[in-house]
Amino acid sequence: MKVTLSIIKADIGSLAGHSTVIPEQLQEASNKLLVAKKSGLLTDFHVTHVGDDLELIMTHLKGIENKEIHELAWDTFIHVTETVSKRLKLYGAGQDLLATAFSGNVKAMGPGVAEAEFEERISEPIVVFMADKTEPGAWNHPLYRIFADPFCTAGLVIDEDLHDGCIFRIMDVHKNTTVDLRTPEESYDVLALIGNTGRFVIQSIFSKKNNLLGAVASTSKLSLIAGKYVGKDDPVCFVRAQHGLPAVGEILEPFAFPHLVAGWMRGSHIGPLMPVSIKNAKCTRFDGPPRVSALGFQLANGMLVGPSDMFDDPAYDLARSKANEIADYLRRHGPFMPARLGAEEMEYTTLKKVLDKLKTRFNKSN
Ligand code: F6R
Ligand code: MG
Ligand code: MG
Repeated sequence: MKVTLSIIKADIGSLAGHSTVIPEQLQEASNKLLVAKKSGLLTDFHVTHVGDDLELIMTHLKGIENKEIHELAWDTFIHVTETVSKRLKLYGAGQDLLATAFSGNVKAMGPGVAEAEFEERISEPIVVFMADKTEPGAWNHPLYRIFADPFCTAGLVIDEDLHDGCIFRIMDVHKNTTVDLRTPEESYDVLALIGNTGRFVIQSIFSKKNNLLGAVASTSKLSLIAGKYVGKDDPVCFVRAQHGLPAVGEILEPFAFPHLVAGWMRGSHIGPLMPVSIKNAKCTRFDGPPRVSALGFQLANGMLVGPSDMFDDPAYDLARSKANEIADYLRRHGPFMPARLGAEEMEYTTLKKVLDKLKTRFNKSN
C-alpha cells in the first residue's frame, strides 16, 4: 500500500512573543483536520508544535504536492489565525502566511513542507524531527551522520542492506537546483557542499540497495520566497527507520551532540541545537536556544500509531546540559561575530543605515 506522509508547518502567531503555540491553536487545527479525516481526505493526522511553529503531520493516499491536501493545510492555518491568533492578539498572527489566497501549492506561500509517497513496509517506524529558531541547513550535520558516518550508524558497517551506502539529493537553495551524490564514494563532495549550511541543504536520502527512501526534509526558504528575509524557516524532516535503513537509535544518536546552527535571536546568531521533549519545546533564553523535538510513529495502513516523544528521556540530559553551557559561552560574545552571523546571513541588520549615516565621516586612511 502506497501512503503519503505530509508534514506542513507554519508560524501563525505565538505566546509570548515568539515563544510557543498555545493549546487553543492546537485544538482548532485538530478540529479542522478531524473533519478532513472523517470525509476520507486524510487517513490520519497528528497536530503538535515546536516553539512558535504549528506542525500538521498528515497521512493520506493522494501523493505529494496534492492540491486538496495543501489547501487543507492552508485553510487550517488561516482558520487558526482567524479564530485564535488574531482574536487573542497572539504575537505575529499569521506571520508565515505570505500569500493572500491559496494558489495550488503551499510550498511557495510561506509554510514549510516535508512530504513523500512510499510503499508502507510490513512494519514502518518513522521519526519526525521539528526544529525552531533555525534553518533547513540545521539538518545537514545530523542527516549526514545518520546516513553516511559509520561512527554514528553501526549499520553502515555491519548491516548488509546498508553497507553499499546512500544517495544524497542536495539542493542549492540559491539556484533552486538539486544534485544526487553517492556515499561513501563521493562523501567528500557531499561534505564540500553541505558544510555550507546556508546554501546547500539535504532534500532527501535513499539507500542504494532497493533505492529505499530514507529521509525527506523541508527546503523552502522564506527569505527567497518573499525576496527578503521574513523569518528563519524553522525546518521539519522525517526519517524512516529499521530493516535496511538506520535503526531508530542510530537516527537519534547525532542529537546527543548539540551542534551549532544559524538562527536563534532575530535569526541572526549561532546557537546549539538543543534536543527537548514537546513539553519543553518553547523558546526562552535569547529567544531560544534553538530547539529540536523528535516524535516516533509506527504507520499501520496509513494510521499514525503513537507518537513516542523521543527526547523526553534522561539519555538526552547531557546534550541539554552541554547545549546550555555552549549557549552561555556564546552569549558572552554579545554582538560580535562569529556568535552573531555575518552580514549576508542576518535576518535583521542596521549595517546599511549606519554606514549611510557615517558616509561623510569616513576619511581615507594612510
Ligand atoms: C527568530 C525569532 C525571534 C524574533 C525576535 C524579534 O526567528 O522569531 O527571535 O526575531 O523576537 O521579533 P520582532 O522583530 O517581531 O520584535
Ligand atoms: Mg514567531
Ligand atoms: Mg519558529
